[in-house]
Amino acid sequence: MLVDGHNRVVDYLRVSVTERCNFRCQYCMPEKPFSWVPKENLLSYEELFKFVQVAIDEGIKKVRITGGEPLLREGLEHFIKMIYDYKNDIDLALTSNAYLLPQAAQKLKSAGLKRINISLDSLKPDVAAKIAQKDVLSTVLKGIQTAHDVGLKIKINCVPMRGVNDTELVDILEFCKQRGYTVRFIEFMENQHAYSGAKGYTSEEIQAIIAQKYNFKKLERTGSSPSQDYILDDGYVFGIIEPHKDDFCATCNRVRLTASGVLIPCLYFEDAQSIKEAIKNNDIDKAVAILKEVLANKPEKNKWSADDTSSRAFYETGG
Ligand code: 5AD
Ligand code: SF4
Repeated sequence: MLVDGHNRVVDYLRVSVTERCNFRCQYCMPEKPFSWVPKENLLSYEELFKFVQVAIDEGIKKVRITGGEPLLREGLEHFIKMIYDYKNDIDLALTSNAYLLPQAAQKLKSAGLKRINISLDSLKPDVAAKIAQKDVLSTVLKGIQTAHDVGLKIKINCVPMRGVNDTELVDILEFCKQRGYTVRFIEFMENQHAYSGAKGYTSEEIQAIIAQKYNFKKLERTGSSPSQDYILDDGYVFGIIEPHKDDFCATCNRVRLTASGVLIPCLYFEDAQSIKEAIKNNDIDKAVAILKEVLANKPEKNKWSADDTSSRAFYETGG
């Protein structure tokens, strides 16, 4: 079992396989062009898997593959299959923008993927295009439908942005409710990479918007989910992810690995250590030692505040 320096059990590993993305979401990417980490600096799937194995042996029970957009890295289904074949009861999930899902969903499911979280910020083609900087909506909707049809469990992520998609929150909730998907609204997390004008909503503001149409009750927090859940009178449950609140960190059970082998204990914390050399040298003891040291130093609370915005890019860490 892995336990951090504040007695939290860490059993959830997020692995970013690429920082590249085919979208340029306003809340995530800069307006200006920028350069990616060269491909040769990335760990191969075999190398990433070596670390995943170590992590599973040490007590990781849930693995989520993230990006950037993970489906941009070729052969992702092989990476998923490696993990599935190693331990098929791992809670194996993916975060994607769904653009490449129409052609990939079946392969991913067959490889052993169980669940998928998909960004859906608008149901209006022009608004979706404004957010992602690309005409994406019809393909995204097709991707979501295909993922559903092949039997993947779906959660939708929506980041409410002031003056952009804020009139659509009830529509997005209803879209998900009708199809049996969970929706989670995420408070915009300010960061140095997002568009300069980007402004989000607080959980209270999101609740007030939903309350204009629906009655709902707050549910007790259970487990380690970062989401605060609410239940409508008809039993549908939606969530709000409230990283601006303190209790967000109290149940944190996660650690992140970037595509270039950096192990990150907390999104809003600059310290991190690379496992790249250890993995390249096949030095498993060293990799375990680094993992344990990173967890011992995992901060109790994120070191984030709205005016001192994080320098860590979400497209690097997968949110
Ligand atoms: N604030 C909140 N959520 C974000 N995401 C990406 N950047 C941000 C941000 N700045 C979320 C999106 C996406 C997931 C990968 O991370 O909802 O679905
Ligand atoms: Fe790409 Fe996801 Fe960032 Fe959007 S939020 S630009 S889909 S990595």
